[in-house]
Amino acid sequence: MTLSPVRTQAGPAAGSLLTEAALGRESFLRLVDLAADLKAARREGREVPRLAGKGIALIFEKASTRTRCAFEVAAAQQGAMTTYLGPEGSHIGREESIADTAQVLSRLYDGIEFRGFAHETVEELAEHADVPVWNGLTDQWHPTQMLADVLTIRETVSKELRGVAWTYVGDGRNNVARSILVTGAMLGMDVRIAAPAALQPPQDVQALAAALARASGGRAWVTDDPVHAVTGTDVVYTDVWVSMGEADSVWDDRVSLLREYRVRPELIAASGKPTTRFMHCLPSTHDEHTELGRRVLDRYGLHGAEVTDDVFTSPASDVFQQAENRMHTIKAVIVSALTSPENH
Ligand code: CP
Ligand code: NVA
Repeated sequence: MTLSPVRTQAGPAAGSLLTEAALGRESFLRLVDLAADLKAARREGREVPRLAGKGIALIFEKASTRTRCAFEVAAAQQGAMTTYLGPEGSHIGREESIADTAQVLSRLYDGIEFRGFAHETVEELAEHADVPVWNGLTDQWHPTQMLADVLTIRETVSKELRGVAWTYVGDGRNNVARSILVTGAMLGMDVRIAAPAALQPPQDVQALAAALARASGGRAWVTDDPVHAVTGTDVVYTDVWVSMGEADSVWDDRVSLLREYRVRPELIAASGKPTTRFMHCLPSTHDEHTELGRRVLDRYGLHGAEVTDDVFTSPASDVFQQAENRMHTIKAVIVSALTSPENH
């Protein structure tokens, strides 16, 4: 008797999305186009459900509002079902390995979303799964956020993407900053990161962005001068100063490093353009209506951390359009992966 291997393919299944760079420029833009079509179809009441009978497992090691809801709503609108596996309540990582989990879920579902800490975990999951695996954020990368952000920029900045200047100001080492640097470079944009030296993207990420920018004709640069970075920019983007999984004790240090990098009206005005947009992946500490916002005021005397409330709520702010676009772009990811003939 010969034992047949449980799994035959090597590498992630077709239709997987682990990083922007692995997806590549053309596939990335194809997904953004599909998302725009799906968004219009939904608006006009002519959406066609193409995922009837399909199932998607949603693994979350970390908290989420947008990513979880976007997957659940997108799947439901397309006729698919989802199962949420949160930080508690499943065997993942405690009594059952990632490899075994990948095999089990592949027998039951058509796709797996994973949000977690180490990027290696989503890679391991994809390595052992027979179905597409989608990265819903790791400590290193946030590719589904990038699809939503690029769709938003296409909707709000009246220029070809290649001519758009996109500036991230704040913690330049985090997942969102790294993803912006690589995505902007890959798409031929003029992408800039303003962060203090201690919080700039690691050298390997800067080198990847530089190589992608050379290939696309774009520009990717990192500076510690926020005013220089935003000069002439079309978009100012920021994210939280302390990301999920970081210790609460880093707040003191982060505030002293990033105080000069808060997005205030003067920084938006320093673009020199009346049309400059403000973006944020959310959630945001911009007022005292959260426990964290109250703590930032009590401890540091700041109303809002990474962005002031007047910028966040200004007419230049596209933050809720971005949040909506998470759903349309994630719908494009699952529809493309689960219906394209080449992915079967
Ligand atoms: N932007 C984003 O990923 O939001 P959630 O953490 O709410 O999913
Ligand atoms: N950098 C943030 C992004 C949240 C969507 C975090 O990882 O917590």
